[in-house]
Amino acid sequence: DRQQHTRNFSIVAHIDHGKSTLADRILELTDTVSKREMKNQLLDSMDLERERGITIKLNAVELHYQAKDGETYIFHLIDTPGHVDFTYEVSRSLAACEGAVLVVDAAQGVEAQTLANVYLALDDDLEILPVINKIDLPSAQPEVVKQEIEDVIGLDGDDAVCTSAKTGMGVDELLEKIVQEVPAPSGDLEAPLKALIFDSIYDDYRGVVLSVRVVDGTVKAGDRIKLMNSGAEYEVTEVGVNSPKPLKRDILIAGDVGYITASIKDIQDTRVGDTVTNADHPTDKPLAGYREMNPMVYAGLYPTDNAKYNDLREALEKLQLNDAALEFEPETSQALGFGFRCGFLGLLHMDVIQERLEREFNMDLITTAPSVTYDVELTNGEHKQVSNPSEMPEVSAIREINEPVVKATIMVPNDYVGPVMELCQRKRGVFDTMEYLDDSRVNVIYHIPLSEIIFDFFDKLKSGTRGYASLDYELDGYRPSDLVKIDILLNSDKVDALSFISHRQFAQERARVITRKLKDIIPRQNFEIPIQAAIGAKIISRTNIKAYRKDVTARIHTGDPDRRAKLLDKQKRGKKRMKAVGTVEVPQAAFMAVLKTD
Ligand code: GTP
Repeated sequence: DRQQHTRNFSIVAHIDHGKSTLADRILELTDTVSKREMKNQLLDSMDLERERGITIKLNAVELHYQAKDGETYIFHLIDTPGHVDFTYEVSRSLAACEGAVLVVDAAQGVEAQTLANVYLALDDDLEILPVINKIDLPSAQPEVVKQEIEDVIGLDGDDAVCTSAKTGMGVDELLEKIVQEVPAPSGDLEAPLKALIFDSIYDDYRGVVLSVRVVDGTVKAGDRIKLMNSGAEYEVTEVGVNSPKPLKRDILIAGDVGYITASIKDIQDTRVGDTVTNADHPTDKPLAGYREMNPMVYAGLYPTDNAKYNDLREALEKLQLNDAALEFEPETSQALGFGFRCGFLGLLHMDVIQERLEREFNMDLITTAPSVTYDVELTNGEHKQVSNPSEMPEVSAIREINEPVVKATIMVPNDYVGPVMELCQRKRGVFDTMEYLDDSRVNVIYHIPLSEIIFDFFDKLKSGTRGYASLDYELDGYRPSDLVKIDILLNSDKVDALSFISHRQFAQERARVITRKLKDIIPRQNFEIPIQAAIGAKIISRTNIKAYRKDVTARIHTGDPDRRAKLLDKQKRGKKRMKAVGTVEVPQAAFMAVLKTD
């Protein structure tokens, strides 16, 4: 009976179409949170998410809905991120559900990630409920969007519910539709326990908290469970659901979405995608789990204070538990000391990890410029994977360098096809196809080097199309390229952490831009600092940072100790995220200068 009254669904959408706001309204309408407790984007529980107004992590909550048929239904709602870097979070959420609410902005219409999400939902055989949101906007065009839903997605546009997550309009109708159209979970209560771990988090008191979807069987406190991948066994201390605060339950049964704690302290034992079973009555076959995610970009992470190296390792281990896509291994740099080479799904992901390490773990970090992984064929026939530019072999030892290429799908109104193609060409793209989606929109497909995409492609795409183009991409193999390593010398010392790879054609220009940028970023010191860019032994660009001798505080009247203290304090804080490289103090921003192409 409980199964018959359960509905598990995710909310998916292109970024900013209103998923989190819609989730807020649903929580409100179902009295899951009281008006008093209500705040915007309630499920975006990290400060970082609220500040940036984006969802980074999936979030699952249980709520109760009294339907028009008089029955009460249990909903498990999973809010998901919209940014392309976090697609992995979306696919994990979907695997825990029977339905997907697909939110489409009534003014923006169907965009690249709308379509990408549809494909993900179809892969999992989910029932898709289209929603046209923001119909309160004067620029809303629900009829046009309905037609797009038919033509581009292939769903019945008339089925779409029109909502305003802002005013709450249409949300009731959506809730009824969820009851009627999302299938109830099936799953055998008597079978051995099979639960999918779709997320996890480390809690200092409770140990690892596993977010699970119970597929078969039941689980309760006192049960012995086994994590099938690692083989580790534990006794369950508590099961429950988030509503949105953790709420203890006696039992979780097939079809439920909730959490399990079992005093798991060993982080290595738990892996997202693993199956939890009962240790005494185990299932013989684990669930399919998730496909391994390969990072798209790598960067070095170094503590500004070398003594914090072990703290950083511990922090990364804990974060990895909550972020299955994060990878890391120890690395040393002549310039920066001991740190870690970390793999990320994209630049936003990298940014988020750095900020989480700083906020949640109190780390003070230097991050080096991100790099893709190159496949280098050596003259002796061997292949070497290089994700750290400073480890690129000598030119004489290289036969060929292959770089990763993505298949980029750019959805754009007809009028902007020209600028989009121009941009793709400039970024060394190779044209694939162009598909007309309906009479106003096209999908332009290009194969573009990943390194060009991660630099500033997206910003350029947006500005070149007045914000109308949207992008989705996936890795598509490697191709040979004429690439060179450019080294940066500060005060005649090569700084390994500043080396980068560039296409030969752009090397001169990039070197010029970067030396100029570094000149602006690195503070003057009491001696002149030459900045040089070199390919091998050949200097291709140079500039100088002039010496600067005055102590800023010297000019302040000594009779004003307060001001002096404030200023010193300000200087001290400004020192954060600086690293002494040889004799030169280098701020964090310098390591990112490589990302700027103009
Ligand atoms: P990500 O999680 O970052 O992908 O974004 P999201 O899809 O969750 O979007 P979010 O709910 O954060 O909403 C994006 C913006 O649209 C916010 O500024 C919302 O206030 C606004 N918004 C959401 N729904 C509506 C709506 O129905 N009407 C209007 N006018 N604005 C809305």
